[in-house]
Amino acid sequence: MCDNNDKPCCGAHKEIDFGAADEILNQYRGKEGVLIPVLQKIQAEYGWLSQPLVEHIARELNIYLSEVYGVVSFYSQFYTEPRWRYTIQICRGTACHVKGSLRILENIEDELDVKAGQMTKDGKFTVEEVNCVGACGIAPVVILGQKTLGSITVAETLDALRNFEEQ
Ligand code: FES
Repeated sequence: MCDNNDKPCCGAHKEIDFGAADEILNQYRGKEGVLIPVLQKIQAEYGWLSQPLVEHIARELNIYLSEVYGVVSFYSQFYTEPRWRYTIQICRGTACHVKGSLRILENIEDELDVKAGQMTKDGKFTVEEVNCVGACGIAPVVILGQKTLGSITVAETLDALRNFEEQ
């Protein structure tokens, strides 16, 4: 049982299913210079690189654990702590406010049962209010994962959220 309260399980004391990692590792085993792409793919699958996962990768690729940790800690793209997988940023700058961004935010909060600044219980999304993102011409703006949605209505936002496809 994770005592990490409202955050996703820290994973440190939980049995990890290495199945998805093994599928990725099998594609790279025996090849040179594969550590970074392997880490990227495995992180994309699990959301972050827990200690058991990093140890598993080192063991399976026959690389020193210190070398794997060296790479993981060098690059800011890698996460060794649980984190949300996708961010929903709602622009709350003036232009977006005038075009109804508050209603969009409130509807997202209701839909996901969180408040701005919080993460969903499954750890999939975190909702953030942000200042002008420099796209006032297409206000109101919501950035969902890596996608910028401009001139968007409440209904379209909820639709995008419900049909969100994980990358
Ligand atoms: S106020 Fe939202 S993009 Fe500028």
